[in-house]
Amino acid sequence: MQDRLGRGLRDLRISVTDRCNFRCRYCMPVEVFGPGYAFMPQADLLSFEELVRVVRVLVPMGVEKVRLTGGEPLLRRGLADLVAMIAALEGVKDLAMTTNGVLLAHHAEELALAGMNRVTVSLDALNGDIFARMNGTGAKVERVIAGIMAAKNFGLAVKVNAVIQRGVNDGEIIPLAKWARETNVDLRFIEYMDVGETNGWELAEVLSGAEILHRLSSEFQLVSTQPAYRGEVAVNWRHSDSDNRIGIITSVSAPFCQDCQRLRVSADGKLFTCLFAENGHDIRPILRSDAGDEILKQAIEGIWRVREDRYSELRGKVALKKAEMSYLGG
Ligand code: GTP
Ligand code: 5AD
Ligand code: SF4
Ligand code: SF4
Repeated sequence: MQDRLGRGLRDLRISVTDRCNFRCRYCMPVEVFGPGYAFMPQADLLSFEELVRVVRVLVPMGVEKVRLTGGEPLLRRGLADLVAMIAALEGVKDLAMTTNGVLLAHHAEELALAGMNRVTVSLDALNGDIFARMNGTGAKVERVIAGIMAAKNFGLAVKVNAVIQRGVNDGEIIPLAKWARETNVDLRFIEYMDVGETNGWELAEVLSGAEILHRLSSEFQLVSTQPAYRGEVAVNWRHSDSDNRIGIITSVSAPFCQDCQRLRVSADGKLFTCLFAENGHDIRPILRSDAGDEILKQAIEGIWRVREDRYSELRGKVALKKAEMSYLGG
């Protein structure tokens, strides 16, 4: 099954909640996502059974990778039960989660036992003050590092994501890279993106992948590596003296839409065919009717076949009112 630009569907990202215990300025600025913010009511959330049904229908359509995201996925009660239910499905080759890591130390063991393969932990700074300022809640970097260590201990493969904003945490690039080498984890730097409508994004705050690489090269001997799979969003290097990788995700300066095989499901059951889409396609009415799997499959197929999103390639040329990343999933 291919979309209008010839892209298959391989990668499903499920947002399990729109809530988060962080208020990163580039994602959920506290001025917008304050105490009065109306998050999704519980009844709107897809149940675990509904989510698993979506995955089960999507696997024969090409999905091999499933990633749980949010918001912060560990705020969804009983998440390990969902992990076990998805891991039990035939054909799911890779089950991962993107998390801010603050609650990970408590959950790493149960997630690993339930069948999760990998976690991607966001860590934008090692410096405690910079980290606290960026996460908007004062949360301590030590807790995230403890989460990363716990995940490694329980056998989860770990990647670390750092969003770089010029003038905010670009001084953390070298310390993070040194730390990742010592800790033996893969690290990816992400260009600051114009997701959603609330973060006040400006191009001047983007540190391009080329600049990030330039800074890394002044400190380390890097060797370029092959993509791990077609459509991988990061371009990777490794240190000449170690195996762990350093990647750069250049969604602003060098978009990768032509290989984008990702479909996102929001926690309330809307399918988003692009991270920068205005609207999702609501499949909850189908899930909550007595329609069978065949009807569900046809609905999803209809959505995918007419997909022509390539926002990052068109950036600046289209005006959209984009949905928030905390809602539609990172
Ligand atoms: P792996 O399966 O480990 O390669 O992970 P991944 O790169 O698919 O997922 P991850 O959540 O770690 O992605 C890293 C970051 O890249 C995301 O949080 C986004 O910031 C960015 N990203 C991922 N997918 C897309 C996408 O489809 N479009 C854009 N513009 N950015 C993306
Ligand atoms: N630009 C780039 N990356 C972002 N993320 C969240 N908002 C942005 C943004 N505006 C990242 C998070 C996390 C992943 C889900 O997406 O830091 O690593
Ligand atoms: Fe929460 Fe992740 Fe958004 Fe930060 S980037 S506010 S941790 S969802
Ligand atoms: Fe895919 Fe949209 Fe990101 Fe392009 S901008 S890579 S189409 S999610």
